Amino acid sequence: MPDSPFTRESLRKYAASERQAFESALGELVEIPTVSVEPQRKGEVARGAEYAAGLIRRFGGEVRVLATGGHPLVHGLFRRDPSWPTVTLYNHIDVQPAEMEDGWETEPFRFTVRDGRYFGRGSTDDKGPALTALWGGRYAIENGAKINLQILWETEEEIGSPHFEGAIKTEAGRLKTDSVIVSDTVWVSRTRPACPAGLRGLQGFRFSLELGKSDQHSGVTGGAARNPVTEICQLISDCVDGTSGRVKIPGFYADVVPPTRQELQDLKRSGFTVSGFKKDHQFKSIRTNDPLEVMKRIWCMPTFEVHGIAGGYQGPGVKTVIPPRATAIVSCRLVPNMREARIIKLVRDFVKKRNPDVKVEAEHGLPAYRGRTTGPNADAIRGAMAFAFGREPVFVREGGSIGAVLSMEKVLKAPVFFLGLSLPEHGYHAPNENFDWAQAEGGMAAFADYFRRAGTLPAA
Ligand code: BES
Ligand code: MN
Ligand code: MN
Repeated sequence: MPDSPFTRESLRKYAASERQAFESALGELVEIPTVSVEPQRKGEVARGAEYAAGLIRRFGGEVRVLATGGHPLVHGLFRRDPSWPTVTLYNHIDVQPAEMEDGWETEPFRFTVRDGRYFGRGSTDDKGPALTALWGGRYAIENGAKINLQILWETEEEIGSPHFEGAIKTEAGRLKTDSVIVSDTVWVSRTRPACPAGLRGLQGFRFSLELGKSDQHSGVTGGAARNPVTEICQLISDCVDGTSGRVKIPGFYADVVPPTRQELQDLKRSGFTVSGFKKDHQFKSIRTNDPLEVMKRIWCMPTFEVHGIAGGYQGPGVKTVIPPRATAIVSCRLVPNMREARIIKLVRDFVKKRNPDVKVEAEHGLPAYRGRTTGPNADAIRGAMAFAFGREPVFVREGGSIGAVLSMEKVLKAPVFFLGLSLPEHGYHAPNENFDWAQAEGGMAAFADYFRRAGTLPAA
């Protein structure tokens, strides 16, 4: 059917004709530093939400920027025909922090285009995929896809979505949807599209220990004085084996369900390689070189990770003090069946036994998520990915977390599916984060085709 708008060729033409507009919108959005974790960026996050809302409006959608009690939520709607299914697209437009000295080769909040690659914080996580999906959705509805397209663009994803569930509960009456499609995940490699069959959950903690008021001379007091930095290090070694990563807190693994035979087969067929993993993430060495073991560890097992330890002297040379306080920021990735409340209790009780002076603060936690890989929507994703990228996706679990996913299933009572576009080498959360035109071009085709297919599925 050469005249159908939904051929790969027509979508290639569309993408090519829209490339400049797409790049300039992505550039403007990346240059708004929507860092949700930094309180001083509140205005920038709001500006990013307004800019994103403007793009939806530009394509003819109705759009509101909703107050949530934290950073805002963008709600867009291309309302077409009430008898057609409504498909909700979810992305986030807040980003991780970034500083030049982390190893950026270009300014993190300057959009830099080089050989079809787009550098800048948030380019792949998640502004590039968000705009790609919007451009694909706009094509689909302008060319006869029988769906109502709703958009939810969050600006608190990178801080664990603390206000998202409350906000969509308040709005639930206006957010009715038949399904949700999330574009915020990573493929196994450029040649291997992947969709998550699950996500890990997350429970963060802050350990702090204060044993004095100020620095004291280590010659005068050392030996008798307790050292909070040393004690925090000792506590962490009690929690986790630094070499193997094995968590030593009794009962930590009790609820872990091992992958099924089917899941193990999917892992083996996923195209994952240890050499690619090491190269993409610039690791000199890792804990094991057995590919199946690596995949199990990053996708199917829980972890206990230290993100940062602070305390004591950090300047040049030595300063011989006993510091008064130390803190550690840690988190556990959780897998399906593990409950955050139980992990919080395990960690609190364990710390109390080992070092009763350490204060434990638990962050807002996220449970793990198990996705659907069968049924008409999953088949539509398979079809759309194959159409756009020439290869069906593998369904493997992902190691990251997206707080909004469970909230949407719970509140909107609609199944959530994933059509991610990021690649391992795009550098999620890393310096020199980037997205690229090949993923945007294919992504527009994949989304257009997915929305077309979704219009042929029955409304709930
Ligand atoms: N897009 C990621 C989640 C992700 C990571 C999906 C890797 C698939 C593979 C998301 O933006 C993210 O970074 N989430 C945070 C959430 C946390 C801050 C509550 C995460 O996973 O650390
Ligand atoms: Mn993301
Ligand atoms: Mn992220």
